[in-house]
Amino acid sequence: MTSQHSQRKNEHVSLAEKFFDNHSKSGFDNVRFIHQSLPEINLNEIDLSTNIQDLKLDFPFYIEAMTGGSDYTKKLNDKLSKVAKATGIAMATGSQSIALKDSSTVESFAVARKNYDGPIFANIGASHNLSDAKKVIKMVNADALEIHINVAQELIMPEGERKFYWLDNIQNIVSNINIPVIVKEVGFGMAKETIQKLKSIGVKNINISGRGGTNFATIENFRRHNKELNYLSTWGQTTVESLLEAYSFSSDLSIISSGGIRNPLDIAKSIALGSNAVGMSGFILNSVIKNGIEETINQINEFKNGLKIIMTLLSCRTIYELQQKKLVLDSKLVAYLQQRSLS
Ligand code: FNR
Repeated sequence: MTSQHSQRKNEHVSLAEKFFDNHSKSGFDNVRFIHQSLPEINLNEIDLSTNIQDLKLDFPFYIEAMTGGSDYTKKLNDKLSKVAKATGIAMATGSQSIALKDSSTVESFAVARKNYDGPIFANIGASHNLSDAKKVIKMVNADALEIHINVAQELIMPEGERKFYWLDNIQNIVSNINIPVIVKEVGFGMAKETIQKLKSIGVKNINISGRGGTNFATIENFRRHNKELNYLSTWGQTTVESLLEAYSFSSDLSIISSGGIRNPLDIAKSIALGSNAVGMSGFILNSVIKNGIEETINQINEFKNGLKIIMTLLSCRTIYELQQKKLVLDSKLVAYLQQRSLS
């Protein structure tokens, strides 16, 4: 497993680690809850379960798509799935496209299912057809399928795609697959126009994956010989801006937040901005690599507890109640709402 593709998978991990910043720039500091002093609630009554379409999840946050496709990333998927098993949170694999071309890499994804019989999401790029989608679902016996849309990343990659006709593929997959299909960005955020297009072809679940955490403009630019595309490192909408773009769709679609999630308060704010669930990649990768499996398990269990503390403060017994909570936005975000006609 030392192909150019496998090598790229390893580089993505090492560069995500190199540029990891424990303070994200996803916009969560620009929104806040209002404290109330009489919540009239028992923390032990709180139910953290949620759903993506008809898929029930015991916890509203999960390990978002990252790895697989090389020997090194097989070891990472082994560790991540052990963390998922110990904590009961869901897990997405990284893009399985490589395993469709090189069968020696199948195990680097399938290891997740071997370890964990809880919710696992398969992952594939939007240039793939229905037959490929079925194969990657089968590879990990997936409970949901993520289709990533990563135009900015492809364009910055020297070896990336240059043609982008994705809607027909997505529509065909969504209409013929009977598990939830999630269309996801990879850290550049989504706009209401994109979400409207996805909704119009039958997509029911979207992951807005916003800017502010792992930055594939920076990562792919670093991989170029001449690092001339650095000016794109601020391209895209932050996670909070993207959630505002998605907000009006939250009664029709399952919205998933990701991009720079660092703590339970970011998760709670994402949910109050309309999300059903929240994905974390860079943070968990960093924890598994730096601190190991046991520490990461403890950290995730702390997140569950932290989320319950915040929900107690907000007097919310369920994720649905948290979704109804109003946040106060700073003046920059109010201006963003006005210019984008989102208010
Ligand atoms: C990713 N991400 C990703 N997404 C995807 O849909 N398919 C993939 O194969 C990958 N690969 C990948 C590798 C690595 C090393 C990282 C860190 C991330 C993107 C990821 O799922 C997420 O959308 C972004 O990373 C933003 O979230 P974080 O990292 O800021 O929490």
